[in-house]
Amino acid sequence: MKVVLANDHGAVELAQRLKAHLEGKGITVNHLGVFTEESVDYPDIAKKAADEYKKGGYDFGIVCCGTGEGISMAANKIQGIRCALPVNAFAAEKAKEHNNANFLAFGGRITNYPDSPEAMVDAYMAATFAGGRHQRRVDKLTALESTR
Ligand code: RB5
Repeated sequence: MKVVLANDHGAVELAQRLKAHLEGKGITVNHLGVFTEESVDYPDIAKKAADEYKKGGYDFGIVCCGTGEGISMAANKIQGIRCALPVNAFAAEKAKEHNNANFLAFGGRITNYPDSPEAMVDAYMAATFAGGRHQRRVDKLTALESTR
């Protein structure tokens, strides 16, 4: 399994934590940074992660900013990216099962997640896309990409 990971200055520590967690499970992580708290713009980071993901060979992507909000919004503007911002492990599981999310977003400045980002990533990875009626809905999501 291979994951692309990228973060802005609001999630330097969280990204390192997630990288260590995934590597501890034998998963290859391509961490694109950033690695310092020098201010950067989350849309640039989301674009960088999506561009890398689209090169192929990745199972999914993780993007992190201070809250996860801005970077998930940015990622979801990019064709082919379905980025979930899960509130807990249940939502992370359903993001895969129902929405076939290919990106997860987390906030490095969120200190009171009910389930840890690591637990949410694990729940997502343990899930399988259910297809069927969910495929129809994901197809409709994809069709919205060309909405003006
Ligand atoms: C950066 O200060 C902060 O705005 C960013 O990390 C993120 O929280 C935006 O949604």
